[in-house]
Amino acid sequence: MSQQENVILEMKDVKVQFRLDEGLLKAVDGVDLRIKRGKTLGIVGESGCGKSVTSQALLRIVPKPGEVQGEIRLSRKKPDGTYDVVDLAKLDPRGSEIRDIRGGEIAMIFQEPMKAFSPIHTVGNQIMEAILLHATDNKDEAYRLGVEILKKVGMSNPEQRMSEYPHQLSGGMRQRAMIAMALSCNPAILIADEPTTALDVTVQAQVLQLINDLKSSHDTSVIFITHDLGVIAEMSDDVAVMYLGKVVEYTDVDTLFHNPQHPYTKALLNSIPSLIRSNKRLESIEGTVPFPMNLPKGCGFYTRCKMAKDGVCNVEDVPLVEVAAGHSVRCLLVDEVNN
Ligand SMILES: Nc1ncnc2c1ncn2[C@@H]1O[C@H](COP(=O)(O)OP(=O)(O)OP(=O)(O)O)[C@@H](O)[C@H]1O
Ligand SMILES: [Mg+2]
Repeated sequence: MSQQENVILEMKDVKVQFRLDEGLLKAVDGVDLRIKRGKTLGIVGESGCGKSVTSQALLRIVPKPGEVQGEIRLSRKKPDGTYDVVDLAKLDPRGSEIRDIRGGEIAMIFQEPMKAFSPIHTVGNQIMEAILLHATDNKDEAYRLGVEILKKVGMSNPEQRMSEYPHQLSGGMRQRAMIAMALSCNPAILIADEPTTALDVTVQAQVLQLINDLKSSHDTSVIFITHDLGVIAEMSDDVAVMYLGKVVEYTDVDTLFHNPQHPYTKALLNSIPSLIRSNKRLESIEGTVPFPMNLPKGCGFYTRCKMAKDGVCNVEDVPLVEVAAGHSVRCLLVDEVNN
């Protein structure tokens, strides 16, 4: 299979910087990622690693004064079977091309549901607007589809919810309404940024199931962002581990759990209660993610890494290197640490 058939979206050296009075904040600092057609890429990492800003870059919704650099190549299949590639990083963030892509080809479930809704229109109007833009131009059909998708995400009284405003819904209901809106256009790529944090466990399971149903029925590619490795294990085909605005390890989900190579990935795995590792003591990762401004050269994980070597790891920035087919690691000591 050619690269274009297999990979729907590729990010190359993507950077997002905020020029603030205090200095240059590097929220995303050279991210390389591939999202395969019909597969789920899990993105995992602690708070502040740049997971949400990476997805904002992709949709070109980074708030000012953020700037996006690098390449974000979306590959679309044309009716004649050939592929056409558009670099989302080069598009005008307010232009019509990216607006058509947002909510159509690429939909997003946000970490905070209020971000997805306008407070001055009813939930129904907003869901119908998305459906009318991308799925049908018949209003009655759009209403019917809206009610149907609200039912699918487990919303009680869907007809009534359609006529309510976002602030009238509870947090959990708003989350479901947003998921409904994202799913309503059968996107080619669905970005789910911590989609279930506000939900109780049973609803959480239903939502994960919904996302997987969409994936198998429509061959949707999913980018699933979470700090929960249990959810990563359940949902992902491939996983990118992020630390301080960079991908530090990228591989398939089985390799990630059975043969992790980066000290940060290992530390994350050691910090979760796991059925496989239940006899091992849990260790939390000492310290916190540094603030991404005026950072010294070298590996971002240097200050917290138990394996780190002075004069080696804190000298030059560390490249992401392929250690096996489809498995990349950003660590100068990768051979030493794993032998
Ligand atoms: N609009 C903004 N302006 C300035 N800095 C920002 C902005 N949004 C995010 N940042 C900074 O960029 C870095 C990455 O943030 P991001 O929200 O992507 O983290 P995250 O990995 O999604 O974390 P979490 O797990 O808490 O959601 C953080 O240091 C954050 O403070
Ligand atoms: Mg986030």
